[in-house]
Amino acid sequence: MSLWYGGDYNPEQWDPAVWKEDVDLMRQAGVNLVTVGVFSWSSLEPAPGEYDFAWLDQVLDLLHDGGVKVDLATPTASPPPWFSRLHPEALPVTADGVRLTHGSRDTYCVCAPAYRDAARGIARALAERYDDHPALAMWHVHNEYGTTCYCTFAAERFRGWLRERYGSLDRLNEAWTTAFWSQRYAEWADIEPPRATQYLVNPTQYLDYRRFWSDELLAAYLDQKAVLREHSAAPITTNFVFGGWVPVNHARWAAEVDVVAIDHYPDHAGIGAEEQTAFGADLARAWAGGKPWLLMEQAAGGLNTGERWHTKEPGRMARHSLSHVARGSRGALFFQWRASRGGAEMYHSAMVPHAGADSARFREVAQLGSVLPRLAEVAGSTVVAEVAILWDAECWWAMQGTHLPSSSLDYLAAVRSAHRHFWHADVTVDFAAPDADLSSYRVVVVPSLYLVSDETAENLAAYVESGGQLVVGYFSGIVDPDVRVRLGGYPGAFAELLGVRVEEFHPLSGEVALASGGRGRVWSEDVEAVSAEVVDRYAGGVLDGKPAVTRRQVGTGTAWYVSTELDDDTAADLVSRLAGAGRSAGGLVETVRRRDGGVTWVFFINHGDADAVVPAVGTELVAGAAVNGELVVPAGGYAVVREA
Ligand code: GLA
Repeated sequence: MSLWYGGDYNPEQWDPAVWKEDVDLMRQAGVNLVTVGVFSWSSLEPAPGEYDFAWLDQVLDLLHDGGVKVDLATPTASPPPWFSRLHPEALPVTADGVRLTHGSRDTYCVCAPAYRDAARGIARALAERYDDHPALAMWHVHNEYGTTCYCTFAAERFRGWLRERYGSLDRLNEAWTTAFWSQRYAEWADIEPPRATQYLVNPTQYLDYRRFWSDELLAAYLDQKAVLREHSAAPITTNFVFGGWVPVNHARWAAEVDVVAIDHYPDHAGIGAEEQTAFGADLARAWAGGKPWLLMEQAAGGLNTGERWHTKEPGRMARHSLSHVARGSRGALFFQWRASRGGAEMYHSAMVPHAGADSARFREVAQLGSVLPRLAEVAGSTVVAEVAILWDAECWWAMQGTHLPSSSLDYLAAVRSAHRHFWHADVTVDFAAPDADLSSYRVVVVPSLYLVSDETAENLAAYVESGGQLVVGYFSGIVDPDVRVRLGGYPGAFAELLGVRVEEFHPLSGEVALASGGRGRVWSEDVEAVSAEVVDRYAGGVLDGKPAVTRRQVGTGTAWYVSTELDDDTAADLVSRLAGAGRSAGGLVETVRRRDGGVTWVFFINHGDADAVVPAVGTELVAGAAVNGELVVPAGGYAVVREA
C-alpha cells in the first residue's frame, strides 16, 4: 500500500507540448495519482453525441508511461454550452426564482431528466472507452455535489419524496405544523420547495428540502455509479465538499462510495486553519467509518476565498498534508497540478505555479512528494481516539432555519468549538453519528444537538448507564425530527438523563460571569438542578446564582450539562478534567497515534515557531533514524515515529 500524491490535472487547458513536461515534472515531484477530466465535458463531447477522445487517449497513455495513475472523472459538474442551449429547462433556478445562465459551472438541475440522461451518456462513453486502461486507478464521479435548485422538476420530485416520507397529507400537515399561519395542505400539488417567501419559512419544510436534496443528489450519483460499474471494477468515488450551502448528508452517502474523499480548503485565520484542518480530517474519518479515506483536493499555496487571500507560508502546506494523513487520509492531493493561465480560478495556487517549476512552491511540493513514500507503512492503520464528538448533518440543517430564538445559535460553530478545545489539549477525537456504538469512548461530547430522535436519546442514555462520561451542550434535545418542541421543559430529550429542567432561555448578547471565575457567551438558560449536582453557577445578571454547569451520576457513568458557551480557559479546564490531558510539549505540537494490530505510529506536527522536544522511542520514518526517549520536532516541522 502506498500513499497517493498528486492533484487535479486539466490538460485540456494546455497545448500538447506541455503534457510531456507535466509528466516529467510529476515524476520529479513524486506524483502517483492525478484526477483527470473533471471539467472536460465540452472537450470530450464538443457536439451532442460527437465524442473526441483522441486527446484523452494520449494524456492517459503519457501518464501511464510516466508511472502516474489516473482517477478518471465524469465531467458532469459542468455541462457544455450546447447542452444548455438545447435544454434551457435544465438550467438551475434559485430560491428567488431566477433561472441561471451558462458561463460558470454547475449550471444544471439534477432533477431535470435531460441532464440526468446526458450525465449517464457521458459516463457510459468514458466507461466503455477507458474501463481497461492500465492507468485507471479509480473513478471520480462529478465534482462536489451540492448545487441546489428550486425549479418545477425539483418541486415535482420533492412532492414524490414527501409522499414516500409521510404517506399521507395528514401526517405531513402534522409534521410541518401547518396549522400555524394557515399552511394546511389539502393537495400534494400545492406543496412547493422553500422558495423565496414573504417572511420566515416553515422550519420543517426547509429541513425536509435539505433532506430531499441530499437524497436527490445521491440518486444522481448512483445513476452514474451504476453505469460505471457495468463496465469497470475500479473503485468509484466522488469528492465531498463541506459547507453551510451543501445539502449533502455525507455520513449517509459514505456507504455508496468505495473510498470517502474530501476537498478541504481551510479558510480560518491564523492557527484556526490548523484547527480546521484537523476538524475536516476527523469528520472525513468518521464518514469513512474509521477506515482510511482520501484528501482529494487542497490548495498548494494561497487562495482567495472571497473574503480574503489565504497564504500558506513555507512549511504550512506540508504540515496540513501531514495532519490529513495522520488523521487517516490515504494521501494528499491538490487542486490543481498546474495553475491555469486564464479562467475564473487562474489565481488559485497550484503544484506548478505560474512562475513554473523553478519556484519555492514547486520545490516544496517535490519535497513533500519525496517524504510520503517513507510513510507508506501507515496507510492501512487506524487512528486511536478515546473521545468522540457527535456530528449530525440534519441537526445542522434544522438550525439553519430562520425560526431559532437567537441568531447567534450556530451548530457548526458549537461543534467546531468543542473540537477546537480538544485539539488545543492535543487530544485526538473521533466524530460519531448519533446512532453510533459509543462504548469504546471514555468521553462523548454532544454540542447543541437541537434536533434529536428518541433513538439517539436512548443511545446516549445507554452510553452513560454503562460507564461513559457524556457532556451535553446548551440548546440540545429541544425538538424531535419533525422540528416540533419536546414539551414539558427543556432540554426535552435529555432532561431526565441530565437531571435538569429549563423553563426559559436567556440568549446572551455579551458575556456572563460564572462563579468559577470563567465566562459564558452566546447563550444561557434558567437551569433548575432537579437531580444533578451543580458544578458552576451564573454570577450576576438575571440568572445570578442559578446553575450553569451540572453533573449527574447515572449508572456507572456521568452526564454533564453545560448551559452556555464556555470561554477557552474554562473549557480547557473541563477538557483536562474529562480527558486528563494537556499539551505535554507546551507549544503547538499536534500528536496523533495510529495503530495496526500490534504496531503503532505517532505523528508529531509542530505548528509553533519554537522547536519542541517530545517523548518517543522507536524509529523516526522521515529521517530513518532511531529515537531513544526524546525527539526534537523542529519549529514548523514534523516527525513520524514507528513506536518500539
Ligand atoms: C473545489 C473544486 C475545484 C476548485 C477548488 C478551488 O474544491 O472542486 O474545482 O474550484 O474548489 O478551491
